[in-house]
Amino acid sequence: MHNNFFKQYNIDYIEIYTPMAKALAYWHTQALGFSVVAYADYETSKTNLSSYVLKSHNICLVLTSTYPTAHQSADSNEVQSFITKNYCGVKRLALQTDDVKETFEKSIAVGAIPVRFPTVIEDELGYIEEAAIKLYDDNEITFINRSAYQGVFKPGYKSPKLDKYSKTTSALISVDHIASELRINEINYWTTYLTNTIGTQLVQSIQRGEENRTGMILNINQSIDKNLTLVMAEPDTYTGISKVQQNIDKFGSGIHHLAFTTDDMVKTTQTFINNHVEFIHFPSSYYDLLRDKEEFKGMDINSLEQNNILIDKEGDTYLLQKFIKPISDRPFFLYEIVQRVNGYNGFALKNINVLKKAEEMQVMKTAILE
Ligand SMILES: [Fe+2]
Repeated sequence: MHNNFFKQYNIDYIEIYTPMAKALAYWHTQALGFSVVAYADYETSKTNLSSYVLKSHNICLVLTSTYPTAHQSADSNEVQSFITKNYCGVKRLALQTDDVKETFEKSIAVGAIPVRFPTVIEDELGYIEEAAIKLYDDNEITFINRSAYQGVFKPGYKSPKLDKYSKTTSALISVDHIASELRINEINYWTTYLTNTIGTQLVQSIQRGEENRTGMILNINQSIDKNLTLVMAEPDTYTGISKVQQNIDKFGSGIHHLAFTTDDMVKTTQTFINNHVEFIHFPSSYYDLLRDKEEFKGMDINSLEQNNILIDKEGDTYLLQKFIKPISDRPFFLYEIVQRVNGYNGFALKNINVLKKAEEMQVMKTAILE
């Protein structure tokens, strides 16, 4: 059972908790071309929280940190405890709704775990209403209605006098998907939870089985209008061969990456390289495998290799993918960039196997050389 109480699935903002929001906001503007459109800091806010609202086309990120004062507020403790455990990562995903109370109550009635009951926050420019339900261990889905608010973001936020940080034209357009790494037997639980409480559907998956040699099982959950996609991976076994399990053993489970779309992957790559953004490299054996495949004949694999771009093809449509190295010192949470060409609407499930095979070949190559 699922309810259809969202006419449209619009991500209002994604909030990231981080130890130093100010510095990370600066990196987003200089490296990735975001603009700071609003902020709340010690001069504007009564709490000991600092937030920077960053925009790039349809993407809105809020970076929030807290700092010690003589008397810690409950809000500050909430941010601090997340940072202590996760260091830097997504805390909440906010979805727009016309009626926060109704959306919240409907979701609670079908199994959502409440985190925040409907609350009105106001100032002289109007009010917003928010409520939140639990997601995974430390995350939440917030329902927000800002239709009665004229201010820049929320009460307590101000516009920067001038966007002194902004440097490059932004190349990132929208949020493609939000991916998590969860524990064994969690992804079906959360898939059902989301289907019941916000109405997403399981649209693709990689199940356990002999032909699945990726070390993980995967569920792709998507809203009917495809505006919201939540990708969940879990280890297919608890032994040490699953990369997902290794990650969880080291860092715990949770939201692992945000994927953003671009309409020109090569140009975006070049811009970001000029901005000193660092990318994850893939083994050359991956590109050798592509060169051997009939379906990639005629494609410029050399350019993909030079730019560290992954590709998945379905007929005439294809997906280009690239990963930025983790955005903080803790190597768990990162950004992905994707370009969907000719209307590709899959999730590179074939490509995961190719990449896995390439990694195995690379290990063997290295072992032979040693
Ligand atoms: Fe992804």
